[in-house]
Amino acid sequence: MNYNLLKGKRGIIFGALNEQSIAWKVAEKAVEEGATITLSNTPIAVRMGEVSALSEKLNCEVIPADATSVEDLENVFKRSMEILGGKVDFVLHSIGMSPNVRKKRTYDDLDYEMLDKTLDISAVSFHKMIQVAKKMDAVEEYGSILALSYVAAQRTFFGYNDMADAKALLESIARSFGYIYGREHNVRVNTISQSPTMTTAGAGVKGMDKLFDFADRMSPLGNASADECADYCIMMFSDLTRKVTMQNLYHDGGFSSVGMSLRAMTTYEKGIDDEYKDEKGQIIYG
Ligand SMILES: NC(=O)c1ccc[n+]([C@@H]2O[C@H](COP(=O)([O-])OP(=O)(O)OC[C@H]3O[C@@H](n4cnc5c(N)ncnc54)[C@H](O)[C@@H]3O)[C@@H](O)[C@H]2O)c1
Repeated sequence: MNYNLLKGKRGIIFGALNEQSIAWKVAEKAVEEGATITLSNTPIAVRMGEVSALSEKLNCEVIPADATSVEDLENVFKRSMEILGGKVDFVLHSIGMSPNVRKKRTYDDLDYEMLDKTLDISAVSFHKMIQVAKKMDAVEEYGSILALSYVAAQRTFFGYNDMADAKALLESIARSFGYIYGREHNVRVNTISQSPTMTTAGAGVKGMDKLFDFADRMSPLGNASADECADYCIMMFSDLTRKVTMQNLYHDGGFSSVGMSLRAMTTYEKGIDDEYKDEKGQIIYG
């Protein structure tokens, strides 16, 4: 359904890689709701991925940028303002990557150079994006800057590894910068903490299929899909949320408030211990 919630607004969407990407859905809905946008992703993702198909479909430009490069980000904001004809009203940071997760380094055996990369790509890039935007005065009053997070920022989840630290930092940046940007320019900064979602980044999380199923059974409303996440992002970009800032907003079907659900407990009762025993019969706690 189309509510014209973003009529006349301009925005930048970082992180659409393929049709599964949360950013892809947000880009589609933003245009449906009346916005004009630019897209950005890494040069390699632009070359190898499907972003150009999205840009053709939505009739918008793609500006390649490594989100860890301040220079690249400056170019994205400069070009976007030229293309869109003015300051932007919303920005989506939908970016995450951990080389440690990719290389299967466990949390008690991290490679620190890789950890630096995880934090830079998945969290500090959000700070860089906001700092660049503020210095360039690129965001309209009551504009909305949003990043995507996960509940592993608050609670430990097996296999989420150093991405948990990155998400904790990401959420902290939203608060710290939200204060300054709000006070000086009425710009809002928030994070949305999304359910496990079957995307390229999501598939990288160890045991994702089981985590997805567990979260779904635990959540009274079930897992939130990428499409539903996009709806929430649109609302956060709209004028209906002008006084919401410095928040981490759960979009997870209720998961973050549940201790145990009947559906999860029933599955647990079926006995899953055997799967997690080593050859000596000792439980692997993971
Ligand atoms: N999938 C999930 O289960 C889930 C749950 C909660 C939060 N999130 C978060 O949602 C966001 C989007 O992820 P997704 O699930 O749509 O997966 P995705 O793989 O489609 O998106 C991740 C994007 O990050 C981009 N990226 C990686 N390194 C970059 C860099 N240096 N500069 C610019 N872009 C870079 C990738 O090219 C890709 O487009 C991420 O922040 C992710 O952590 C995902």
